[in-house]
Amino acid sequence: MLTYEEIVALEQKYLLNTYARYPLAIARGKGVYVYDVDGRRYLDLLAGLGVNALGHAHPRIVKVIREQAAKVIHVSNLYYNEYQGLLAEKLCTASGLDRAFFSNSGTEAIEGALKLVRAAGHATGGPEKCILIALENSFHGRTMGALALTGQAKYRQGFDPMLEGVRFVPRNDVEALRNAMDDKVCGIVLEPIQGEGGIQESSFEFLQACRQLADQHQAALIFDEIQCGLGRTGQLFAFQHFGVVPDVLCIAKPIAAGLPLGAFLAKERFAQHITPGKHGTTFGGGPLTCRVALEYLAILEDENLLEQVRRVGGYLSQKLRELVDKFDIAVEVRGVGAIQALQLTVPGKPILEGALAKGLLINVTQDTVLRFLPPFLLQEKHVDSGMRILRRLLADAQKQEKAAARAANSTAPAVE
Ligand SMILES: Cc1ncc(COP(=O)(O)O)c(C=O)c1O
Repeated sequence: MLTYEEIVALEQKYLLNTYARYPLAIARGKGVYVYDVDGRRYLDLLAGLGVNALGHAHPRIVKVIREQAAKVIHVSNLYYNEYQGLLAEKLCTASGLDRAFFSNSGTEAIEGALKLVRAAGHATGGPEKCILIALENSFHGRTMGALALTGQAKYRQGFDPMLEGVRFVPRNDVEALRNAMDDKVCGIVLEPIQGEGGIQESSFEFLQACRQLADQHQAALIFDEIQCGLGRTGQLFAFQHFGVVPDVLCIAKPIAAGLPLGAFLAKERFAQHITPGKHGTTFGGGPLTCRVALEYLAILEDENLLEQVRRVGGYLSQKLRELVDKFDIAVEVRGVGAIQALQLTVPGKPILEGALAKGLLINVTQDTVLRFLPPFLLQEKHVDSGMRILRRLLADAQKQEKAAARAANSTAPAVE
């Protein structure tokens, strides 16, 4: 087995320089824990960026992967396989939408959804009906279409020109949305809870206005639930938490328990505009990933995990709020269930690094937001051990912040 230093050296020499990785090489995982190449254990409150909802090495997932890998892994979409239709049926029945397309990732689900609503727009309103409305501070992925919908300059910089025809409005601003809408709009795209954007929830009023304006202008309402969906809110779909039903739903991350699979689901009214040859993929919807996704959904039910997400998520919110009460540098708790954030007034990176050194995996987004996307297997005792580490780190960070403020005051010139 390679040492940590050998792994890093190889990557530095041969990989495209896309990732600023943290100093951890993970060798294996079990439940809510991962282990590094030297055998050190870490409590995983990030779950591979929201993917490993069933934790690591779930015995039922390991079993179906073994079984299916020995039968057939890939057949292409030229032929039928036993599991794609079963998975589509399950997702459509659970969501109330009509048809599914399977991709290999979240960003590809978004690309497909984009093509679908543009095709529907062209068919119903001519080529001018092609405008998309997206939200400021959103994140929809890194491919060119998804990037064009992503309302954060830092992700788009250097990649112009973007796809044309996207209008951005601020989240929860009904007036701005109303002003941006007209009959040229073919779709409104949004994350019900913005993930990369710092765990920012849409208001019910805003989502209702999106629904009403989309209907009024024969546009599709597209929810990107790639991060917040498939159980993370404590409901199978985030839209069930908010009570507003989309026409198109994009999902990915946890669906195949760590294997690459994404999907978009669509109402028939929009789905009918995609016909053979208009869209496709070599890998998406293969028998291995679809069978594992069926097992993922079965495990959520059998182990009553949505109930656990609601219960432990409530406990996590309460414990995070206690941090806000205790520390001046922690100011707000956002999110629900297994998608939550602690807003700080100071950079989160040193706290993340401190947590890593103490055996805890969390994430920072938007510089000052600690993000938690734990596995659904999380229990109250795990929250307690995570909070013990965070309390110590926040206490240190606050002490340093106050010392720096005192030093700045003592060197500031006296004001007459
Ligand atoms: C809301 C949202 N949409 C889209 C994506 C892109 O998904 P992927 O990285 O699987 O392409 C992400 C990834 O983090 C996401 O959080």
